[in-house]
Amino acid sequence: MRGVAIGLLGLSQLATSTDTAVKVKWLDDAPKINSGTTFGLPWARGKHLANSTSFTASSGELQSWTTAFWPDGTIKWTGHAISASESASDEYTITASGPGNGTVRHSKRQTNNSSAIQVTESSDAISVNTGKITASFSKSGRAVVSSIKTSNGMIVGQNGHLILKAQSGIAEEGDASAIEYSSFVSKIYNATVSEESNVRALVTVQGIHHAEAGSHKDWLPFTLRFYLYANSDAIRTVHTIVYDGNARSDFISGLGIRFNVPLSGEELFDRHVRIAGTDGGILHEAVQGITGLRRDPGEAVRTAQYNGEKTPANSTWDTKTSTRLQWIPAWNDYRLTQLSPDGFNIKKRTKEGQSWVKIPGGTRSGGLAYLGGAASGGLAVGLRDFWKKYPTSLDVANAATDEGSITVWLYSPSAEPMDLRPYHDGLGEDTYAKQLDALEITYEDYEDRYNIPYGIARTNEIFIYAFDSTPLAETLSTLTDHTNQPPVLVANSDYIKETRALGSYWNVRGAVSNSSTDTATVESHIDFLIEFYITQIEQRRWYGFWDHGDIMHGYDTDRHQWKYDVGGYAWDNSELSPDLFFWNQFLRTGRADVYRLAEAQVRHGGEVDSYHLGNFTGLGTRHGVQHWGDSAKQVRISTPVYRKTFYYLSGGDERTGDLVHEALKAEQAFVLVDARRKVRDPSVIYKPDPTALYLNFGTDWAGVAAAQLLEWERRGPRWKEARGKLIETARTFPKLKFGFVTGEALYNSEDGSWAPPPTDPNNNGTVTVSHLSAVFGVLETLDQLFEHDPEISQGFVDAWLDYCYYYGASKAEQKARYGKDFGSLNLKQGHSRLTAYVANKRNNATLAQRAWNEFLNDNSADELSPGDPWATVRFNGSEVLTPVDEADWVTTNAAALYGLAAIELLALA
Ligand SMILES: *[C@@H]1O[C@H](CO)[C@@H](O)[C@H](O)[C@H]1NC(C)=O
Ligand SMILES: *[C@@H]1O[C@H](CO)[C@@H](O)[C@H](O)[C@H]1NC(C)=O
Ligand SMILES: *[C@@H]1O[C@H](CO)[C@@H](O)[C@H](O)[C@H]1NC(C)=O
Ligand SMILES: *[C@@H]1O[C@H](CO)[C@@H](O)[C@H](O)[C@H]1NC(C)=O
Ligand SMILES: *[C@@H]1O[C@H](CO)[C@@H](O)[C@H](O)[C@H]1NC(C)=O
Ligand SMILES: *[C@@H]1O[C@H](CO)[C@@H](O)[C@H](O)[C@H]1NC(C)=O
Ligand SMILES: *[C@@H]1O[C@H](CO)[C@@H](O)[C@H](O)[C@H]1NC(C)=O
Ligand SMILES: *[C@@H]1O[C@H](CO)[C@@H](O)[C@H](O)[C@H]1NC(C)=O
Repeated sequence: MRGVAIGLLGLSQLATSTDTAVKVKWLDDAPKINSGTTFGLPWARGKHLANSTSFTASSGELQSWTTAFWPDGTIKWTGHAISASESASDEYTITASGPGNGTVRHSKRQTNNSSAIQVTESSDAISVNTGKITASFSKSGRAVVSSIKTSNGMIVGQNGHLILKAQSGIAEEGDASAIEYSSFVSKIYNATVSEESNVRALVTVQGIHHAEAGSHKDWLPFTLRFYLYANSDAIRTVHTIVYDGNARSDFISGLGIRFNVPLSGEELFDRHVRIAGTDGGILHEAVQGITGLRRDPGEAVRTAQYNGEKTPANSTWDTKTSTRLQWIPAWNDYRLTQLSPDGFNIKKRTKEGQSWVKIPGGTRSGGLAYLGGAASGGLAVGLRDFWKKYPTSLDVANAATDEGSITVWLYSPSAEPMDLRPYHDGLGEDTYAKQLDALEITYEDYEDRYNIPYGIARTNEIFIYAFDSTPLAETLSTLTDHTNQPPVLVANSDYIKETRALGSYWNVRGAVSNSSTDTATVESHIDFLIEFYITQIEQRRWYGFWDHGDIMHGYDTDRHQWKYDVGGYAWDNSELSPDLFFWNQFLRTGRADVYRLAEAQVRHGGEVDSYHLGNFTGLGTRHGVQHWGDSAKQVRISTPVYRKTFYYLSGGDERTGDLVHEALKAEQAFVLVDARRKVRDPSVIYKPDPTALYLNFGTDWAGVAAAQLLEWERRGPRWKEARGKLIETARTFPKLKFGFVTGEALYNSEDGSWAPPPTDPNNNGTVTVSHLSAVFGVLETLDQLFEHDPEISQGFVDAWLDYCYYYGASKAEQKARYGKDFGSLNLKQGHSRLTAYVANKRNNATLAQRAWNEFLNDNSADELSPGDPWATVRFNGSEVLTPVDEADWVTTNAAALYGLAAIELLALA
């Protein structure tokens, strides 16, 4: 008892001094609908001890958990879920209360039973009651969501399952008789629910697609994550598939999720179909229309039907209509197809076997469909970025029967089958010599069997909304916006910066008080590049099932066209870190459009450009015409440093968390894939061995290090191993005579230690400096590591600062230090950020000057200079396919490094 009393006394004294109140605001305007959301917050080192800090929100209920720890055990990042509410506050204040360190206080859960979530779990099902809906999930079988029930007890959705259509070939010319067609449905392996489900319950279902008919093996594994919030009638669903087929015999011809909607007991004329059109538009239809007829049932009846309300009793109808309902066709099926980002068609039919009737379509559908009735309730399902991920479809079917359905097609069955085969036949490139020669002309690094989609993934977001009765069209319009721009809460840039939880290399825009006209010019150039890419995405239609979220790499001035068809110049696949440019620009400005740009990139690069199964698991693919086509499989593309900001700001997005674990597996992939197999001096004998992997510190190790650091911070299942390896790397790497200037050395993936390269077994010192080593996030990863663990070997920090210093130093200085110079290096502008980094860490103004000089006066091919036009030129008419704004002096390599270096120089130099 005495101990408790002292503890409480100590607590009251500490309470005021250790509380931290942080404001979070909506990324866009405050949403019209708050269906609950999750967000993340950073905390400065040493402030709040995990397990003895409690969190409260200024309004609404809060569930909080720790997503990352500082090495001293204090909280680095938290995730928070707020419950749904009638209206959203403009901002929330999240208060962390608890001793900074030392004193242990057990947090009281902020429960409010009136709206808390109730979870029940049995051996075969999980049921979640949010207070507004009860959703049931199966642990086996096909129906992932077995039912969705409103608080009035009405079942408005059931038998929610996945569907897949596939075919064994494509009928290109003539005979299609040999093609086998198969249909698959979800087969559940397992389902789990989050342990803590006070304000947010997360149900995770894993499984595979199983053939209903035919002999095709089970394939296309999936993970579905359902997020349900207290007091909410919405379910956010994160849908992930991994392609594990053979591109020559497994063509996807339809991929979707279907929910059945009970309609029995509802009059046909009281059943409503709503489909989102363009710019908030909604198609208003009843299954049996009583408007526009030759005889008028009465205005009250027509108005009720149009508004989705129950029509008055039929005794009030004009009998000229009510006696003739049997002659009015009922529309059973509706189908919207968005086969391009520019247009959708929509049609309906009375039943199978009868012709479809066209409904006027539009440009870009909001991607949401509703089916239900005035009395029986209904369901709406929407796909985020519906038109951006074309070809997509929405089906409403069997609306005139007792059980209708809504199908959201992530890949439309009306489109041509998805073709993942290589786009060329190899062109006879059957030796490394030929492949390297081809690289000289198309810049494509081809190799047979490396151009495979086996193991790539795609993640989509789907929102499910339940209703007791047909909602107003305006409500569905608001929900369509909600689906496409899910509300995001974030802390302001000043606070995030102050915690130092995401590196020391960026500053809040405008924070530098001595901002001169020069920095204003640099800021305007950063803005130009952001605006340019946002505009190019739209003008060049960088959209599609696999493509959305990527940008192009190089530009063909002659054709006024990005080099979408020229080997290694096409899709960018995160080359030279545009992701870091965009995320850092978001961090320093808080701009919503930059966040959305970077978020789409996270969902692309980590999924499509990276491998999740097979030999390449943990590696990504170099830029090319097809995202998976190039034979350079490296962790420089899959590195989680590109996704880290999103991971933490989103409160620990679970799918992104999976990707970090996969990147840890790159250590195994290094054994199967030798990144420098084509370019290594043939006199060097190298046989990959887990204890002696010949790696480049920047293009290979840095990505694994980023994953290890995240694992350590998160205290994931391998965190002790990850920490141990990072510390061992930091201890052993400086023992390489020339540190990072060694470039490539032997990494022991079992303990993280480094040894001299096979070319220099005695460690006499080797100089191998590549322009590529430091342009895939190694500086940012190392800085985050140094910020995370101040105890990290000083020798390691110094070795890195030496690399930063000498890359841009004069040849004479290089020679004086290393016995030889580094040769002719490019990407000086991008590397100016290394100079700025060492200038800052060594507090050397001369070096800061050198950094700016390198940044502004690089004058090589892959850079942007103050003398560039910094403006676009409009092309239209017959010169181009569609009108475009061109900046032929911009390549994505240059833009990515210009943006990243500019941000870091503004912060560090
Ligand atoms: C714990 O708090 C004390 C007193 O404020 C401080 O001196 C110490 O550095 C803190 N420890 C950590 C690990 O932050
Ligand atoms: C917090 O408490 C849990 C359960 O007692 C324990 O497993 C975990 O290690 C603790 N975390 C820290 C950082 O002390
Ligand atoms: C619980 O939530 C309800 C509805 O949001 C609210 O009216 C009530 O005041 C809350 N109760 C407590 C104890 O916070
Ligand atoms: C669910 O099944 C998958 C595939 O077999 C497996 O990898 C995963 O570990 C399982 N998860 C759980 C929670 O059992
Ligand atoms: C009016 O509705 C009732 C009950 O639904 C039905 O039995 C009756 O046939 C309807 N009358 C006409 C004229 O359609
Ligand atoms: C995967 O690795 C195994 C073992 O090294 C090898 O036999 C196989 O050919 C590889 N598969 C591909 C597609 O490279
Ligand atoms: C490395 O140093 C050792 C001992 O100083 C010497 O014997 C050897 O020749 C050197 N090797 C090279 C490749 O310079
Ligand atoms: C700063 O860097 C310059 C350039 O390398 C060097 O000459 C000078 O000695 C450094 N100044 C300090 C104070 O270290």
